[in-house]
Amino acid sequence: MSAFLAFLHHLAAFALVASLVVEFVVIRDDINARTARRLALADLVLGVSAGVLLVAGLLRVFYFEKGAAFYFSSGAFIAKLVLFFGVALLSIYPTVRFLRWRRHPNPVEAPAVRRVLHLELIGVVLILYFAASISR
Ligand code: HEM
Repeated sequence: MSAFLAFLHHLAAFALVASLVVEFVVIRDDINARTARRLALADLVLGVSAGVLLVAGLLRVFYFEKGAAFYFSSGAFIAKLVLFFGVALLSIYPTVRFLRWRRHPNPVEAPAVRRVLHLELIGVVLILYFAASISR
């Protein structure tokens, strides 16, 4: 089970990065109903992978690996968790825009959304750094 959760955690992490990169690239296209549907689909993958990451991550923290006491005394783990929720908060703005654009595409809003996606990508890179630091 521990190996399966580690696999699921990595799979979801790769899916999250992939969907974020897709959004970052597609948002440079002309924003119309079609690109808005694509963005909303990539965003669904992003949301599902974030959910899987959180559930698999919490199961690893509390029931597998090194125990909750170890992780909650690790600065790298706390930093990773805080960044995770920071990125989750940032992702609300693009999600709301993508859903609205399916009915009312608004290219004027695209640069602001792209800047938020950029911040999310930076946040995820930092999360990967802290993930690697936890046990080292
Ligand atoms: C964008 C979000 C996340 C990404 C990209 C991510 C990525 C990773 C990666 C790549 C590892 C493997 C590190 C290594 O073995 O060198 C890892 C480990 C781990 N992650 Fe995450 N993670 C994310 C979110 C979370 C969350 C939300 C939790 C918990 C609530 C969590 C809990 C853990 C735990 C417990 C480990 C094992 C650490 C160890 O003992 O070495 N992760 N994560």
